[in-house]
Amino acid sequence: MCGIIGYVGDRPACEVIVKGLKRLEYRGYDSAGIVTEDGGKLFIRKGAGKIDELTGKLGFLEMPGRRGIGHTRWATHGVPNDINAHPHTDCTGKIALVHNGIIENFSEIRDYLLERGHSFRSDTDTETIAHLIEEELKSSETFEEAMRKALLRLKGSFALGIIYADEPDRLYFVRNESPLVLGIGKGETFAASDVPAFLEYTNKVVFLDDMEYAVITRDSWVVKKLETGEPVEKEVREVEWTLEMAEKAGYPHFMLKEIYEQPRAVRDAMHGNVDAVRKAAEEIARYEKVFIVAMGTSYHAGLVGKYLFQRLANRVPIVEDASEFRYEFENVIDEDTLVIAITQSGETADTLAAMKLAKRKGAKVLAIVNVVGSMATRIADLTLYTHAGPEIGVAATKTYTTQLAVLTMLAIELARVLGTADDGYLSSLVDGLSRVPELMEEVLKHDASLRELAEGLAGKSDFFYIGRGVSVPTALEGALKLKEISYIHAEGLSAGELKHGPLALLEEGVPVVAIAPSGKTFEKMLGNIEESRARGAFIIGLGDREELGRVSDVLVQMPPMDELLTPIVYAVPLQLLAYHLAVLRGNDPDKPRNLAKSVTVE
Ligand code: F6R
Repeated sequence: MCGIIGYVGDRPACEVIVKGLKRLEYRGYDSAGIVTEDGGKLFIRKGAGKIDELTGKLGFLEMPGRRGIGHTRWATHGVPNDINAHPHTDCTGKIALVHNGIIENFSEIRDYLLERGHSFRSDTDTETIAHLIEEELKSSETFEEAMRKALLRLKGSFALGIIYADEPDRLYFVRNESPLVLGIGKGETFAASDVPAFLEYTNKVVFLDDMEYAVITRDSWVVKKLETGEPVEKEVREVEWTLEMAEKAGYPHFMLKEIYEQPRAVRDAMHGNVDAVRKAAEEIARYEKVFIVAMGTSYHAGLVGKYLFQRLANRVPIVEDASEFRYEFENVIDEDTLVIAITQSGETADTLAAMKLAKRKGAKVLAIVNVVGSMATRIADLTLYTHAGPEIGVAATKTYTTQLAVLTMLAIELARVLGTADDGYLSSLVDGLSRVPELMEEVLKHDASLRELAEGLAGKSDFFYIGRGVSVPTALEGALKLKEISYIHAEGLSAGELKHGPLALLEEGVPVVAIAPSGKTFEKMLGNIEESRARGAFIIGLGDREELGRVSDVLVQMPPMDELLTPIVYAVPLQLLAYHLAVLRGNDPDKPRNLAKSVTVE
């Protein structure tokens, strides 16, 4: 996830762009850059760092020209450094572009271009696009035609801002699966990833749809189909957001926005990992002794990973809290060990220490990380990125479900490599996984009813979350979300464990959230729910079976899916419930007390 802003008009472009980038900083903040045009010449300044810092250091505000594009980066390919920062150019330096998204077939395109004599400066997928347009220009009548031909060869998600030095008046913006919106002013036109970037100047907007591009000039704009180049009729809308609201895309909190972003994030996590997962699975297959280390929510993802690995690949990884692993497991780690570290920030001190210990003892280390270039990626032998984009809310939401998506892909691939599961079943699971984003969209529709449910529960002081099998970690995660943002005491546990002690705590009206999808232990779950009901507990059932409705006080109806995919989709209503309870109790869910986004001390 990155931020894009483009401007053509009478103002100094750099001023509009720097302001816009500041407003888009929440979309990424590891590097930034600007291209402007003056007198048919492109000027580019870019580097790693925060926008304020770079504005002073690189003199963004001294750049000439009344047309230009800016970018704030959240790295997906290539570490955040000066060279990988956008804009990127072709060999001639006449085409410059910025990109938000992931090009899945970029290595293939890069090889094709290398054969044709192109050379690359950066490690990014973005740079290949500039060269591909340059290549197409050789056999095209217009720049626009070359751009279309090149972009039709890309697979993946992209929002692009493109400038060509030889065309004096225009900018191009293209959208496929990454957001883009035009801002229509008087004698000036804007384009950006999000409305706040230009809301100060205009509230008249045109939203681009997938596989569309816009050509904008100072006083004109047109949207066309990427496939054919034909113009598309678009409606100009007026937004009534304040700037503050607009930064969160109209959501009251980043956490809610991030919960809603999950279908997109999970899709990106899948698209961005097709090849990488294959390589990683081959590596894992070589090891009998596999540990998964992580903390907090990432640890819960690790627990889901354990169920996935054992069910599909007959491998049982040992999942350890990284703070324990580093002190308790030293004697059993050696060159025959593989350690999978899961950390969204890539900076959690306990997880980094566990990784370093593993490396010191000769183990292979694979990391599943969200922040590109973070410390964990530098320690690991191999990294899989979750591609969730920056997560601003302290409570992990989209980084958790994207970790789960990657782990599910990994377990499926591992089962393929080891030949431990039926091919037909694995294909149906792949199919099911590709539909998970849609299922998440469907489940997000429960938002209003979960808010209503939360109203009745906001005064409660204890919650229990129960599940069986792959739903045990879901129960743990549901409880953690509730604790950290609503400050209500909550316990997550296996439903079978209830009557070995915790049942003594159940009394009239205590909420028990029962995660009970169809699956091999569904009937057993019904029994455990009955045990809780008999003690007067208030049952909130999450599942797809009618029988669950009969034993629940409130049923959160979930769509049917393979049990192994439920952790990703069932996380959504649990996050929403915790969110609404936090807000109803007057807490700021984005900044829970005593907690920090990345815990860099032991
Ligand atoms: C909970 C949460 C934390 C983190 C934990 C590990 O919502 O965010 O429990 O999951 O601090 O952080 P990472 O994944 O950055 O290592």
